Amino acid sequence: MNLIEYIDQNRDQYLEELKEFLRIPSVSTKSEYKKDIEKAAQWVADKLRAAGMTKVEICSTKLHPVVYAESEPQPGKPTILIYGHYDVQPADPLNLWTSPAFEPAVRNGNLFGRGTADDKGQVHIHLKALEAIYKTEGKLPLNVKFIVEGEEEVGSVSLWDFMAKNRQRLRADALVVSDTSMLAKGVPSITYGLRGLNYYQVEITGPAQDLHSGAFGGAVPNPITILAEMIAKLHDKNFRVTVPGFYDDVVEISRTERKALLSLPWKEKDFRRTVGAPGLCGEKGYSIVEQTWTRPTLEPNGIWGGYMGEGSKTVIPSVVYAKLSSRLVPNQDPAKIAKLVERHVRKLLPKTVKCDFQVLSMGKPWVAPYQHPIFEAAIKALEQGFGKKAVFIREGGSIPLVTQIHDWFKVPCVLIGFGLPDENAHAPDEHLSLENYFGGVKSVALLYDHLSRV
Ligand code: BES
Ligand code: MN
Ligand code: MN
Repeated sequence: MNLIEYIDQNRDQYLEELKEFLRIPSVSTKSEYKKDIEKAAQWVADKLRAAGMTKVEICSTKLHPVVYAESEPQPGKPTILIYGHYDVQPADPLNLWTSPAFEPAVRNGNLFGRGTADDKGQVHIHLKALEAIYKTEGKLPLNVKFIVEGEEEVGSVSLWDFMAKNRQRLRADALVVSDTSMLAKGVPSITYGLRGLNYYQVEITGPAQDLHSGAFGGAVPNPITILAEMIAKLHDKNFRVTVPGFYDDVVEISRTERKALLSLPWKEKDFRRTVGAPGLCGEKGYSIVEQTWTRPTLEPNGIWGGYMGEGSKTVIPSVVYAKLSSRLVPNQDPAKIAKLVERHVRKLLPKTVKCDFQVLSMGKPWVAPYQHPIFEAAIKALEQGFGKKAVFIREGGSIPLVTQIHDWFKVPCVLIGFGLPDENAHAPDEHLSLENYFGGVKSVALLYDHLSRV
C-alpha cells in the first residue's frame, strides 16, 4: 500500500494513541510526577519498537531518563538523528483550562491538552511517520537514531552527560527536530535559527529578619523597592538592555536576510491578537520579527517576596527574589553575558542590601545556512504534505540540543515545526491543529522516504 493511503487509513488510531500519550502528566519540573515521567519514557520506548527501531534503550540519568533508539543498520544509506522531548510544562493555572490539561479533547479541529504542540504531538508525528514506512515497506530503509529526552523544559541538564558519553553514537548526516512552530496556519516553515538562553536567580537581602513596618518603616531599606528599582533600570527608554557590553558581540543581520525576513507572510495583526496586550514595546529601530528572532533580551520572569497572602500584613521583608533570563543571539557568548549581567545587577544595587546572584543555566544561540540537499528534500516533503511551498524562518525560543549537535558535527539541522504561534505552548489551553498533525505525519514520512532513496 502507498504511504499516504496507509497514513490516511490510520488517522483514528493515531489520534487515540496520541491521546494516550497526552494523558501521562510527565511534568519534568515537579518531583511528584516522577512516576509519570518514567511511564512516558516507557511509552515512547514501546512506540519506537512498534516503528521498527531495533535497539531501544531507556537510559537513566541523575534526573529523568533519556530514551534512545537505533534502527537496523542500512549500509550506504544516510543516517538521521531525530530529537524530541516527552516532558511537558506544568499545567498551572489549572482553572484557566477549558477542558482539563491531561484529558485531551478535540474542539474545532484542534486537539487540546498539555504537550499537544510542545512537544508530545510533534514527537508522535515522527513515531507514526517511521511506523508508516516500516509497515508499508517491511523495514526502515535508512539509518535512524532517535533521542527523546525528559528534561527539555528544565534546561536539558542530564542530557549533557548523556551526550558527552554517547558522542560518537549520536553522529549522523543530519539532525531533524519538530519542536518549533510554523509561521502561520497553512505556511509550512523550516526554522534555521534559534536564540540561546541564560537563566538567572537574584536574591536580595536587607534586614536580618522581617520587620514591623510601623516600628521600623522609614529608616530601613526595603528590599522590594530596591529590587523593583534595579529591574526598572535594566532597559533604557528605547527598550535597549542597559548592561554595558551586552550588545558588543551581537552580529547585525545582513541586508539580504533582513529583506527576506520582512517579506515573509507574517501579519502584525495576528501577532497583536495572540499577545492580547493593549500595546507593544520593543527595541527601537527593529521590526517585531527582528526583535523576537534576531535581537537579544533581558527579561524578569518572576518576582516574589514579602507578604503575598490574603488581606494585609504590615511588614518590611528581609529577603526578596527575582528570576531573570536573557535570550541570546549570534555571536554572544553565554558565559560572558552572564558575567556582564551579574556585574551590572550588583552595580545597580545600593550598599544597603546584600545580593546573591546565581546562574541557573546557560545556552548558546544557533543560526545556520540552509544550502544542503536535505533542505530540498524537506521543502518537497512539506509541499506534498501541505500543498504549499515552505518558508525559512528564525524563532526566538531555545532548544539546547540543536546548538550542541551543530557545534560537534557541523551537520545540517532541519527544524520542521508543526505548532502554531497562537497554540498556547506553556500556557492554559495548549493545542495542536489536527490539520498540522496529520500534514506533519505525511510530510515527515515523505521526507524520510525521499532520504532513503538517495
Ligand atoms: N519547543 C520549545 C522551544 C521553542 C519555543 C522553539 C518557541 C521555538 C519557538 C522548547 O520546549 C522550550 O520551551 N524551550 C525553552 C528552553 C529551555 C532551556 C527551558 C525556552 O525556549 O524557553
Ligand atoms: Mn519543546
Ligand atoms: Mn517548551
